Amino acid sequence: MSQTIISFNHIVKKFADETILKDISFDIEEGKFYTLLGPSGCGKTMILRTIAGFTDADKGDIFFASKRINDIPANKRQVNTVFQDYALFPHMNVFDNVAFGLKIKKITKSKIKEKVYEALRSVQLTGYEKREISEMSGGQRQRVAIARAIVNKPKVLLLDEPLSALDLKLRTDMQYELRDLQKRLGITFIFVTHDQEEALAMSDEIFVMNQGEIVQKGTPVAIYDEPINHFVADFVGESNIIDGIMLEDKLVQIGNQRFACVDSGMRENEAVEVVIRPEDLQLTSVEKGKLVVKVDTQLFRGVHYEIIGSDKQGNKWMVHSTKKAIEGNYVGLYFEPEDIHIMRFNETEKDFGRRLKNYE
Ligand SMILES: Nc1ncnc2c1ncn2[C@@H]1O[C@H](COP(=O)(O)OP(=O)(O)OP(=O)(O)O)[C@@H](O)[C@H]1O
Ligand SMILES: [Mg+2]
Repeated sequence: MSQTIISFNHIVKKFADETILKDISFDIEEGKFYTLLGPSGCGKTMILRTIAGFTDADKGDIFFASKRINDIPANKRQVNTVFQDYALFPHMNVFDNVAFGLKIKKITKSKIKEKVYEALRSVQLTGYEKREISEMSGGQRQRVAIARAIVNKPKVLLLDEPLSALDLKLRTDMQYELRDLQKRLGITFIFVTHDQEEALAMSDEIFVMNQGEIVQKGTPVAIYDEPINHFVADFVGESNIIDGIMLEDKLVQIGNQRFACVDSGMRENEAVEVVIRPEDLQLTSVEKGKLVVKVDTQLFRGVHYEIIGSDKQGNKWMVHSTKKAIEGNYVGLYFEPEDIHIMRFNETEKDFGRRLKNYE
């Protein structure tokens, strides 16, 4: 069993009349990679600031290794932050940037050197010690910022959108490197992003946030396959979200058609939302299709075609397919019962957990 290292217990943060964090509770286990994922302004940075001690909570308790730390100042907390803009000192070279925090503490010169070299080695910047920050590329600066943050071996590293300034290729490379670094060092990472693909690729656990609340917590696969409500289904990955009626357990109606599914625990004839991911819809002939749509548009996306079609009721369906379709033609869409995911309107994480338990 992993140890809990950080806990938020009903944290509330307000500014004037606005509640920025609305009763946030979670546990962070040691050695895992966590991601806070959500749209701009939802409170991601505010959670990091509260953990780091740059902001006080108005209500609730924060625990670090089971000790309440609400009143512990930032410089006494065993966490370190990599800021979005890296906040490096441009007039100092790489070595001095990484050594900065150590020089304030009483550590011998040779020990400082040893630690800085080790940190630079772990981000693959050996040999760059004397370089000025202004002579480093965006990706290299990012590594310096990480080296500076890990040089003191914090228990927890907070990373606030550290990759957002990088171009796509470098960003993907750095995703691998960060994940690898986290595993090697065994430090708990709390990573912030509004990029859902990045969150899915990197995390052990994702907390999906919206408007000051954590809407859903779970592994990338759980969040992707079992989004709890419309917001999560829409925000994480592409989705077809269509209105339906849950006739009985494992049987849903869309328009005037009935489909077998695997969900249960709703009321009979309850209005629900039906989610099918575009990659789970297979393009087939009209005869073989469970649904028939008329192709409205088709875009070539590199790996696949993105096809949008309308069914008889006027519902739009997005399909990702390696096969091409012809605009204006009718095509069949095939899917399995497991490809359907049913969501209740406004279901919360607690309700969902209860429902899962009931039919397990
Ligand atoms: N000092 C402040 N005074 C008043 N409101 C603030 C203050 N700092 C942040 N906020 C508000 O708190 C909310 C959450 O801000 P936060 O910086 O945590 O968002 P975020 O999720 O990190 O967004 P982004 O992805 O844009 O960085 C926003 O609505 C923001 O305007
Ligand atoms: Mg932010």
